[in-house]
Amino acid sequence: SPRQLLAGKRIVVTAGGTQEPLDPVRYLTNRSSGKMGYAIAEAAQVAGADVTLISANAALPTPSNVKLVRVQTAAELLTSVQQNFATADILIMAAAVADYRPKTVATQKIKKTANNETMTLQLVRNPDILKTVAASKEPNQVIVGFAAETNDLLANATKKIAAKKLDLIVANDVSNHQIGFNSENNQVTFLFANGEKTKTALESKRAVANELITILANKFSFNE
Ligand code: PMT
Repeated sequence: SPRQLLAGKRIVVTAGGTQEPLDPVRYLTNRSSGKMGYAIAEAAQVAGADVTLISANAALPTPSNVKLVRVQTAAELLTSVQQNFATADILIMAAAVADYRPKTVATQKIKKTANNETMTLQLVRNPDILKTVAASKEPNQVIVGFAAETNDLLANATKKIAAKKLDLIVANDVSNHQIGFNSENNQVTFLFANGEKTKTALESKRAVANELITILANKFSFNE
């Protein structure tokens, strides 16, 4: 176990999947359960960190001694990440953020009509949260992203390190139902900005979280 590897560090973790409302009774979302992010928050707290967990719609018990902030949409997640990142040593973005949201949110329930057999939704891009906060990153802050990919895992994850100015990305093959979205277990590759990489065993999300904590404690120094 990671002992007190992160004693005194301030860590912000995001978890779950954003919901983007369409009308008062409907929203667009994804299959994230929040299990991966919650496991990281728990592991970081056990390792002595001061943890803020920003949870997008996860139905999971709040980990002990962790500050929980609940959000629904990508816009709310962005606001909360910006507020909490300013004083953080490490940001870990395990949340699955909707890339697009409905262009308009109807104030009343959208009705089907007799002559409309199909319907087109207009979506607009959500802000990229990692890119937005990277712009205000201090040299001693560490930003960890995830990459959920169904194909070309390492190539796509590598592009995201540069595009989002990350120190580390956790590449997650979500085409395999035993790992990734809503599974108990996971198997990931930790990819560093310098090209170094290491792949975990297929193991519990908590074990993956513990490996991440150990990597953060060993590879990065936050307090100079
Ligand atoms: O919650 P679980 O059921 O346990 O599942 C875990 C998980 C599969 C959700 C998790 O391991 C994971 O891969 N999370 C990232 C999901 C995701 O949105 O990946 P992405 O490749 O689309 O995004 C890349 C990174 O950019 C992510 O860190 C994401 O949080 C971030 N992002 C994405 C879009 C956006 N608008 N802003 C962002 O900051």
